[in-house]
Amino acid sequence: MGIGSELLETTASDPVPADFLAPIDFILAEHYRQRLLCEGLAKLTEKMELAPVAALAARLQAFLARDLRLHLEDEERDLFPLLWQRAQPEDNVKDILDLLSEEHGLDQDLVDFLLEDLAILAGGGQLANPIRFLVNVREFAETQRRHLAWENALLLPVARRRLTEVDLAGLGRSMAARRGIDLGTAG
Ligand SMILES: [Fe+2]
Ligand SMILES: [Fe+2]
Repeated sequence: MGIGSELLETTASDPVPADFLAPIDFILAEHYRQRLLCEGLAKLTEKMELAPVAALAARLQAFLARDLRLHLEDEERDLFPLLWQRAQPEDNVKDILDLLSEEHGLDQDLVDFLLEDLAILAGGGQLANPIRFLVNVREFAETQRRHLAWENALLLPVARRRLTEVDLAGLGRSMAARRGIDLGTAG
């Protein structure tokens, strides 16, 4: 299996209702898939050749426009506000939350930039500046990798320690609803 087909595997996201009964595990699983994708993208762009990335344009476009956008919303609208509410001074996460939120904004700018080029590639068009696109893909892969490593190491342990059962049920319900899944009273 080549890097291209592995990337297609790692970006496939098709959650089921039960996933949202353990929302922190779901976020961790998404981070794992994101890490594999970013490692793949870093490898794929090592030689700064457009063709291998262009072959994945439509799938990458779907990942960035859907899966990653949903993930950012899960964090910004649900997880981070809960952490702000529940974290204790000794958890030392408030500065980190500010920093990671700021990165979410920067990520979104880079993603919007990438999506413009991916739309052209997915439609079979030619990029005016393929090198700029490849540099942006590498930048995205590197910043994402560091960002999600920090979230895993610094935020998710605090979430596991501090969020209550009610918090987790609400978090799961909200994340499910964002994907059109109604958990009803199951959560
Ligand atoms: Fe994040
Ligand atoms: Fe994340």
